[in-house]
Amino acid sequence: MDLELGGKVVLVTGGSDGLGAALARRLVREGAKVALCARGPERLEATAASLRAEGGDVLTIQADVSKAWEVEHFVDAAHARFGRVDALVNNAGSAAGRPFHSVTDAEWEADLQLKLFAAVRASRQAMPFLRDAGGGSIVNVLAISAKTPGAHSTPSSVSRAAGLALTKALSKELGPHGIRVNAVLVGIIESGQWVRRAQEVGKPVESFQTEMARHAGIPLGRVGRADEFADLVAFLLSPRGGYISGAAINVDGGLSASV
Ligand SMILES: NC(=O)c1ccc[n+]([C@@H]2O[C@H](COP(=O)([O-])OP(=O)(O)OC[C@H]3O[C@@H](n4cnc5c(N)ncnc54)[C@H](OP(=O)(O)O)[C@@H]3O)[C@@H](O)[C@H]2O)c1
Repeated sequence: MDLELGGKVVLVTGGSDGLGAALARRLVREGAKVALCARGPERLEATAASLRAEGGDVLTIQADVSKAWEVEHFVDAAHARFGRVDALVNNAGSAAGRPFHSVTDAEWEADLQLKLFAAVRASRQAMPFLRDAGGGSIVNVLAISAKTPGAHSTPSSVSRAAGLALTKALSKELGPHGIRVNAVLVGIIESGQWVRRAQEVGKPVESFQTEMARHAGIPLGRVGRADEFADLVAFLLSPRGGYISGAAINVDGGLSASV
C-alpha cells in the first residue's frame, strides 16, 4: 500500500532511539522528510546519519521537550528548514511509575512537563503550519496505562490519561481545519529503554523481554517490535488514515484490559 507520504514533512520528538527512531526510519523509507529532536546529541546524530545513509532528508535539533522554549524552537526550526509541516508525533517520554507516597511534587511536575506540556506546546506551535499545509495529522504516543492505570503507575498514568483528553479535545477543535489527532497506546515494545533495563539487571535483552512478556501476560506471548509500532503510526499520519481522528489505538499484543 502506498502511504502517500512522499515529500511530507513529519516532526518526531524523541526520535533518536527506540520507537521514535523506528518510526523515523519507516517514514524515510516512505519518502517523507523528518525532523527529530532529543536531548543527547551523539545518539541523535548517529540515528540521523543512518537515516541519511538510506537517502533520508533529516533535520536534527537538540532539545529537551520538557522546556517550553526548546520544544517550540524545534517546531519552528523544522518549519524554517522544510518550509512546511504536515505531521507531528509527540513521542518523547520515559517510563516512570512508583509507589504514590514516594513521588514528590517535583517529580509530578517533571512528568507532566515531559509527557503533557511538551505535547501541548508542540501541537500549539505546529497548528498554524499544519493549517497552512491544508491539514495534517498529530499522533500522541501514550501508554495503555492511560486507560487502565495500575498500582504504582503514578505519575506516568495520570500524565497519559491527560494525553488522552488532549487528543480527543484537539480532534474536535482542529478537525474543521483538516487536522486529525489520534493517540497510540503502547503496551510493551522493544526499544532503547528495555535494552538499558536488561543491561542494568545483567540479562541478555531477548530473555529479559521473553520474561517480561510472560510476567505481564501478553496474550500474543511476546513483546512488540518497534517496526510494528512504526507501521501503525505511519498509517495514522498518512492520507490512508484520512478518516481516523479522535481515536486511541492499543498497540500491545492484546495486553490492555480495555478496548
Ligand atoms: N517501549 C515501550 O514499551 C513503551 C511503553 C509505554 C509507553 N512508551 C512510550 O513511548 C515513547 C517512546 O518510548 P521508547 O520506548 O522508544 O523510549 P526510549 O527507547 O527510551 O527512547 C526515548 C526517546 O525520547 C528521547 N527523550 C527522552 N526524554 C526526552 C526529552 N525530555 N526531550 C527530548 N527527547 C527526549 C530520547 O533521547 P534522549 O534521552 O537523548 O533525550 C529517545 O530518543 C515514550 O513516550 C514512552 O513513554 C513506550
